[in-house]
Amino acid sequence: MSASQKVVIVTGASQGIGAEVVKAFRKLDYRIVATSRTIKPSDDPNILAVAGDIGDPATAQRVVGEAVERFGRVDTLVNNAGIYIGKPFTENTLGDFNAVMNVNMAGFYHITQLAIAEMEKHGSGHVATVTGSVDNGISGAHTALAALTKGGLNAVTRALAIEYAKQGIRINAVAPGITKTPMHNKEYYEMLGTLHPLGRMGEASEVASAIVFLDSAEFITGEILHVDGGQSAGR
Ligand SMILES: NC(=O)c1ccc[n+]([C@@H]2O[C@H](COP(=O)([O-])OP(=O)(O)OC[C@H]3O[C@@H](n4cnc5c(N)ncnc54)[C@H](OP(=O)(O)O)[C@@H]3O)[C@@H](O)[C@H]2O)c1
Repeated sequence: MSASQKVVIVTGASQGIGAEVVKAFRKLDYRIVATSRTIKPSDDPNILAVAGDIGDPATAQRVVGEAVERFGRVDTLVNNAGIYIGKPFTENTLGDFNAVMNVNMAGFYHITQLAIAEMEKHGSGHVATVTGSVDNGISGAHTALAALTKGGLNAVTRALAIEYAKQGIRINAVAPGITKTPMHNKEYYEMLGTLHPLGRMGEASEVASAIVFLDSAEFITGEILHVDGGQSAGR
């Protein structure tokens, strides 16, 4: 294990976009702390799996604590864990609201606070958050809870980018369009593809590539990089 090897924490790492992010950073020889509720231990000594609910502050403490204890530092945090509940706004229950706020908002908040505090100790770091292409509504889709939470994450990305720029810590977001992951039933892929100007859904590996790009882009902070087949540009 080399002291110069970088360390990345990836939330929601068990499947979908998060699993692709883990693969992409391993190709670059990063050491990884991978977390989700059902994450399984890895045979790769450079991947440490820490299981837990990301909305729970105790999970955030364990994840950042184990990153420092096992690998010595935190260079990058990828806030990827997120859920989508696609019901008409008035049919969302209090349980639906609390579940989305727990993962999408509290799941960002607690671990980002701890990771930035760790990055401040060595005067550098990068936070990349997977948000969503929520600038415009989609007729016929039920996106209120996604817009409420992911829109907030896009805004806090800019706020934190400014707050921590002088400490050498960059804060960016990747805003995917509808992406092929277990979040969506395959029978809807064709229809979901038509909701993008480029006429197809995104691949999880395309979102992961954008995150890796931002991680290496030393002069980019406060950026919301849309990986959405043109959705945010118009229809
Ligand atoms: N797919 C899309 O179309 C799309 C579009 C825009 C944005 N996004 C965003 O992209 C991110 C990844 O989504 P995805 O499509 O890859 O979804 P996914 O396949 O459903 O994966 C979600 C990940 O989040 C984890 N997770 C869910 N609840 C959790 C909790 N309470 N605590 C800890 N981990 C939790 C899951 O692991 P466990 O079940 O093991 O906990 C899983 O690893 C999300 O933030 C999502 O909002 C996705």
